[in-house]
Amino acid sequence: MTTSISEKWNRIYTTATEFPPPARVLSENDYLLPASGLALDLACGLGGNALYLAEKGLQVQAWDISQVAIDKVRKKSQQLGLRNLEARIMNAESLDWRQWQFDVIIVSRFLVRSLCPMIAAAVKPGGLLFYQTFVREKIAEVGPSNPDYLLKENELLHLFPELIVRVYREEGRVGDPSRGLRNEAYLVGQKPLCS
Ligand SMILES: C[S@@+](CC[C@H](N)C(=O)[O-])C[C@H]1O[C@@H](n2cnc3c(N)ncnc32)[C@H](O)[C@@H]1O
Repeated sequence: MTTSISEKWNRIYTTATEFPPPARVLSENDYLLPASGLALDLACGLGGNALYLAEKGLQVQAWDISQVAIDKVRKKSQQLGLRNLEARIMNAESLDWRQWQFDVIIVSRFLVRSLCPMIAAAVKPGGLLFYQTFVREKIAEVGPSNPDYLLKENELLHLFPELIVRVYREEGRVGDPSRGLRNEAYLVGQKPLCS
């Protein structure tokens, strides 16, 4: 199972030449970031979020199951002189989450619901989770078609009950579909200082 997932993504990333921009949940809310600290870009792909966070001066872990993606992130961060970014091949479903605590976690376009409690637990008190992924109520054929990998209405709002919701966007098909945030929902949550 793990092999077939990594093989699938390795094939996709072998031909990829463009490095993606950061997810909107990060670029539109980056004023919420701390000035320093340890950040994780989980299921980072080609590392659009990780590179953005490293350029902002955070210490960054970029984790993905795909060796090809991680090799490309390593090469790109070296080219950019970002010594504060470490890219690692990691399977989010088999790693020991208890060893890790982050000031910031970003997850974009990756949804394994069973991981949500571990992700929330890995956010330090006062730390932030940025999460953005595809919804079932899409207006375009983007992202996965399997509904298991798509958020139900308001699902993201309730996926991390341990966190205080600081920002939430989910616009469905309401109003002018050429504007706004479509096909995806996003959340910025904060771990309470005392829980
Ligand atoms: C749709 S891509 C999103 C990549 C990136 N976060 C972005 O927004 O551009 C999904 C990513 O999840 C990674 N992935 C899938 N299963 C994984 C797992 N169990 N552990 C870590 N990464 C995984 C894939 O290799 C792929 O890079």
